[in-house]
Amino acid sequence: MKDVSSVASRASSSEAARSLHVIFATTSGHTEFVVDTLTRSSELSHWKIEQSLAEQASPQDMLRGTALLLASGTWNAGGVEGQLNPNMSKLLQSRAKNLDLASKPSACIGLGDHRYYYTARAADLLQDYIESHRGRLLLPALKIVDEPYDQVKAILDWGKRLAVALTRL
Ligand SMILES: Cc1cc2nc3c(=O)[nH]c(=O)nc-3n(C[C@H](O)[C@H](O)[C@H](O)COP(=O)(O)O)c2cc1C
Repeated sequence: MKDVSSVASRASSSEAARSLHVIFATTSGHTEFVVDTLTRSSELSHWKIEQSLAEQASPQDMLRGTALLLASGTWNAGGVEGQLNPNMSKLLQSRAKNLDLASKPSACIGLGDHRYYYTARAADLLQDYIESHRGRLLLPALKIVDEPYDQVKAILDWGKRLAVALTRL
């Protein structure tokens, strides 16, 4: 008789081995649009993708899955421009301030607006977080400057590079 439980457990472990956890913060929906465009692309169709809002994520959530993708707009927290979205800031700079990413394969996306001096600095801040918390950055961050709706090609091109990097894991 076929051992269904082991088949099921192999299936679930292979699925778990190919899962991407996206943690993002958004205010007007731009980051959500970028994340949705990316995660619905055919390039990532073989990956199990989980999405969480930064305000609901715990440090342990950041270790879930095979790879981590962080995405945030740039914000002015406390009147200072060039900061992370406040919800992403609370996660990374407070709750997960001491997290060890333990070589977690990671990538990031930062959004911004060209009218600000620190344009899309969220991308640099996310990348700095990954590198300073012992994450393994899979590729340079995607920066989306201004509204993302007519930048689908740039999002998908980066998604292809991400998919190649993920496939090599
Ligand atoms: C209060 C506020 C502050 C912002 N500060 C910056 C900034 O310092 N640098 C930047 O590049 N963009 C800045 N932006 C623009 C946003 O990062 C940009 O519109 C982004 O696409 C928003 O993404 P979201 O809708 O996912 O939050 C700011 C926007 C607002 C409303």
